[in-house]
Amino acid sequence: MTALSDVLAALAALPADWHAAGCLEMPNLEALARHAAARRLTHSVETGAGKSTLLLSHLSEHHTVFALDAGQSLTRVADSTLLRRERVTFIDGPSQLTLMAHRFTEPIQLAFIDGPHAFPFPNLEYWKLYPHLEAGGLLVVDDIHIPTIRQLFDFLREDAMFTLLETVGKTAFFERTGAETFSPVEDGWWLQQYNTRRFPVPYDDASAPWAAPTGLGSGDPTDDPEVYRSRLLPLIDGWVAAGTRVAIFGIGPHTDRLHRYVPELSRVNLVAYLDSHPAQQGTRYRGVAVRAPEWAGGRADIVLCSSFAHELAQLALMDAVPVKAVLSHPVSAAARATPATPAGGRAA
Ligand SMILES: C[S@@+](CC[C@H](N)C(=O)[O-])C[C@H]1O[C@@H](n2cnc3c(N)ncnc32)[C@H](O)[C@@H]1O
Repeated sequence: MTALSDVLAALAALPADWHAAGCLEMPNLEALARHAAARRLTHSVETGAGKSTLLLSHLSEHHTVFALDAGQSLTRVADSTLLRRERVTFIDGPSQLTLMAHRFTEPIQLAFIDGPHAFPFPNLEYWKLYPHLEAGGLLVVDDIHIPTIRQLFDFLREDAMFTLLETVGKTAFFERTGAETFSPVEDGWWLQQYNTRRFPVPYDDASAPWAAPTGLGSGDPTDDPEVYRSRLLPLIDGWVAAGTRVAIFGIGPHTDRLHRYVPELSRVNLVAYLDSHPAQQGTRYRGVAVRAPEWAGGRADIVLCSSFAHELAQLALMDAVPVKAVLSHPVSAAARATPATPAGGRAA
């Protein structure tokens, strides 16, 4: 049997592009070795193949690999003298089909998710694997820099079934706790901490033009009434005195909050609510007509943008309409520093 240090030295001697599907780097392999060697692995599973497969063939008594041969990753592993072939079962093919059809007959002590990375494939693999992972077992998720995998990571780090041991670069190492296995075939989203901590997320403007990747998606919503009041009361006084025609962009929970925190809004000459979703246009909200954002040009003097998550996107949208638009709350320094503020974007 080869000593683990010798296996790691042999892996370190392989070129970084040993196969062309993206090899795990040495610090990640060393961490995998450290965590895997700390527990007895009678059965382990990996999606994708490569240097990690060679390593795990030395650490696990029965290692099952669900992988395609992209970048010759499988071929390289199968041909390597470092592989302990007798311990590894290769299941060649798309894990979306092979892993999903697999019947596990033994609990597993390690699951490594590093096969197809597009959404929802790692999530599917997680769903298939987690019920079989023993308490104390290791769940490894690679490539947490990919946004959808990052969301899986964020979910897991708050889930009762897992404790985050560490991240090494883009690889996350979790340990299965003793928490009861969440049913993989029933519902129960309301029991999952990731949901209970965030529920409900804003949905009032879910159909608004998506602008988050440019940094325009979020202002700095707050649940402190004073933040809204200290900003809006002086503006409202001016609008009332001047008879300003005001339209509020946004119909939903944030605007409800706005009215609750700042009841003085009832003093302004409110000419419309605006919503970018055609299905809402022509309806009424809080007794006032809902119009398209363009409607405000020439018919309103001020548009007050109101949203938990898309105020800056609303503001950007109003750039195309000849009307002054303002935010219902201050924007944080971080949001102001976003380089993608649209040309002509107004500071409110
Ligand atoms: C990033 S590489 C894995 C690297 C490996 N862990 C290492 O240490 O070198 C991704 C692996 O997933 C495999 N793969 C890609 N799409 C797949 C799919 N649909 N089903 C199964 N494996 C897939 C690739 O062939 C490759 O083996």
